[in-house]
Amino acid sequence: MSKIRIYTIAKELGIENAEMLSILDDLGIEYKSVSSTIEEDTVELIKGIVAEGRGSAPAVAQTDQPQPEKQEEVNTDTVQNDQAKTEKSRVDQTPAQADSGLSAEELAELAELEAEEAAEQAAAAARAELPHRAPVVTIMGHVDHGKTSLLDYIRSSKVAAKEAGGITQHVGAFEAKTSKGRVVFIDTPGHEAFTSIRARGANVADIAVIVIAADDSLMPQTREAIAHAQAAKVPMLVAINKVDLAQADPERVKADLTTINLVPEDYGGDVITVPVSARTGEGVEDLLEYISLTAELEDLRADPKGEFGGVIIESRVDKQAGVLATVMVQEGTLKVGDFLVVGENYGKVKAMTDSAGGRIKEAGPSTPVQILGFSESPSSGELVSRTENEHAARELIAGREEKRREEEEARKKPKLSLDDILGP
Ligand code: GTP
Ligand code: MG
Repeated sequence: MSKIRIYTIAKELGIENAEMLSILDDLGIEYKSVSSTIEEDTVELIKGIVAEGRGSAPAVAQTDQPQPEKQEEVNTDTVQNDQAKTEKSRVDQTPAQADSGLSAEELAELAELEAEEAAEQAAAAARAELPHRAPVVTIMGHVDHGKTSLLDYIRSSKVAAKEAGGITQHVGAFEAKTSKGRVVFIDTPGHEAFTSIRARGANVADIAVIVIAADDSLMPQTREAIAHAQAAKVPMLVAINKVDLAQADPERVKADLTTINLVPEDYGGDVITVPVSARTGEGVEDLLEYISLTAELEDLRADPKGEFGGVIIESRVDKQAGVLATVMVQEGTLKVGDFLVVGENYGKVKAMTDSAGGRIKEAGPSTPVQILGFSESPSSGELVSRTENEHAARELIAGREEKRREEEEARKKPKLSLDDILGP
């Protein structure tokens, strides 16, 4: 539920801030100042009250019919109708901000907030100019419901492995080429992608595909996966897998989904369910199509020329090569030779391979790459940034180390010693 600032609504409704606050007082709604935010529901309520005060009241007085007493709980339907009626008459009213009944301090705060809002709008407009990026998809679901099989099917049918003469490394993510463009799949266990990566504040997946076996329906880990996706506010698609089996019952899966408030489209809801078989490939093309559609709605964009930003997907140590880290490029372009900092470690990108195992020199947004160059293994979910040179990398790390030590010291300090309590 989105929240709206009080002064924004006052402005929108063309009423004074003081009047707005008195309406809130009447409703018993708490606020700190005109820059406090209120819930959308409340806004509707206020709009209704303002509309009533303006136009509807005289109309009511003209009727002979006794009007039913207005209830405490305002009916939103009526409110919206009233609002629509007054929409026209409101246009030529000027926002009464001149004698708004605000202190100089409040007015200054208001100006600052308005400037902030304008900056936000400008940033959003600038973002709309950026090129689209491929969606990053994670696959989650209950044990044995077919996550790996589904990924394997997509990988084998949609990834043209480069025969570079080398062994294709496990990268933890791969790119599929679909008729609608590139789709990136993270094939580290989906839960990991959500828990460990999100625990560090990064969100790497744009879309979650919940795999549910048609012969087994909802299971504990299915619910868990759904909860993860909901917590991350990531759009979900449901792949009802194993429809090739005789005992498959996709309708039961759909009915079961309604019991946890996920109502499939053919039940009148908005949850997209796609019947698939990782064995025969049935429905996989549809699933990819829905992924592209969902991505389109999400309007995913990134600046390939902007400042580089990435996340560690996973890393491992190869006996010969050393540390191999999979990085998801999220913003900007990563290049061989770049200095990267992860936590308190840095490394220079010595070599870079794409998810098909081919050597590459640079990688743009939504590209998973495996890089060679860190001396220590970074953990999944850690954020990766770039510095101009080695010196800058060391400085950044020194700053982080100092901050960490300070925090550790602060935590160690006992609040009160025994002497303090007992006195001299
Ligand atoms: P975990 O990684 O253990 O959680 O399992 P998973 O979800 O990755 O399942 P996996 O892909 O390993 O599949 C489990 C079993 O189901 C395997 O024996 C697969 O062959 C089988 N299986 C997966 N998808 C299908 C399908 O579409 N149809 C049929 N008939 N069997 C399938
Ligand atoms: Mg698996």
